[in-house]
Amino acid sequence: MKRIIKLFDPFVDKKEEDIIKKVLYSRFWASGAGTNQVLKFETAFRNYIGSQSCVALNSGTAALHLALSLLDLKGKEVIIPSLSFVATAHAVILNNAKPVFVDVDATTGCLDPQQVENSVTERTKIILPVHFAGMSCDLSRIMKICKKHNIVLIEDAAHAAGGTYKKNKIGTHGAAVCFSFHPVKNLAMPTGGAITLNIKNHSSFESILKSKRWCGISDRKGIKYNVDKIGLNYYMNEFSAAIGLEQLKKLDRTNRIRREIAKRYSKELKIEKKMPFNPECTYHFYWICVKNRDKFIKQMFDERIETGIHYKPIHTMKYYANKKTILPNTESFGAQIVSIPTHPNLTESDISKIIEKANKFS
Ligand SMILES: Cc1ncc(COP(=O)(O)O)c(C=O)c1O
Repeated sequence: MKRIIKLFDPFVDKKEEDIIKKVLYSRFWASGAGTNQVLKFETAFRNYIGSQSCVALNSGTAALHLALSLLDLKGKEVIIPSLSFVATAHAVILNNAKPVFVDVDATTGCLDPQQVENSVTERTKIILPVHFAGMSCDLSRIMKICKKHNIVLIEDAAHAAGGTYKKNKIGTHGAAVCFSFHPVKNLAMPTGGAITLNIKNHSSFESILKSKRWCGISDRKGIKYNVDKIGLNYYMNEFSAAIGLEQLKKLDRTNRIRREIAKRYSKELKIEKKMPFNPECTYHFYWICVKNRDKFIKQMFDERIETGIHYKPIHTMKYYANKKTILPNTESFGAQIVSIPTHPNLTESDISKIIEKANKFS
């Protein structure tokens, strides 16, 4: 049986294996004790991003939920793209606010700043862009809109670790940036996420987040503690943090490999609508748009090439369905988008095969 070319595949070596054993036999698996991998990861990721704070969590969903909870959103609106994973919208609902779905740019799949501007109301409290597939949205225009209307910028960078967000690029970092370290992500862990902060009084927001990630616990002194707010069980475990530290060391290299793959796709794929090439993009995946998508996916799978759909637009999901929301570019992506692999385990011959088989369909 021929090997399957997977859509996502974590890039690991003996370093991850060794550190897992170390944590295993340390017998401290939760954060806050033992070899303190979580704290080490927070410090390393904060330095890598160049942010003021970093709070490690157990998922990107938790990061979005807690980052938005820093503001009182009752009765407020949050502008988001519908072309995203549902967690982006769920975080808004979980914070008692209304998600306002705004259309994306047809070439990048990221929020269209003009449509964002048109959708601002006096209730808009947050703009929450997604850096789709690792392509940065037009942050400078979105930041200007935020400044003009006194709106807070919180970013969903689940696909974008190591892209726009790197040291020396401060100025492109919203009040909070949310990351996912789900196993398919560029920086992979068994499960994980983080919030980085760039905000006045960041240390007090950092302690609020740290308390909320563990059941609202405060004033911990030895075995005694108090609880002064509602919180959740959102803390990162030591295994995830340990793997994350190794993945972080590789991140620039693995993102470079992803970019090289995307460069080949953008040059060699004879498909009209495809992801543009941008040297700062992290290419979490590479998207193409095809008219007869089911047939394309089946044909690729028959060639033992996995593909995916990212995403069925959120405003078309049963829970969010609303006939009044019309987003032509998002809906066009929703009908035609296919994701193809960019992970660093692909060989040159895998990449050539993906290009050849996809081109056969065009
Ligand atoms: C754009 C986006 N936002 C948020 C998330 C949620 O991250 P997690 O799966 O770590 O909860 C994901 C993960 O799939 C995502 O792709």
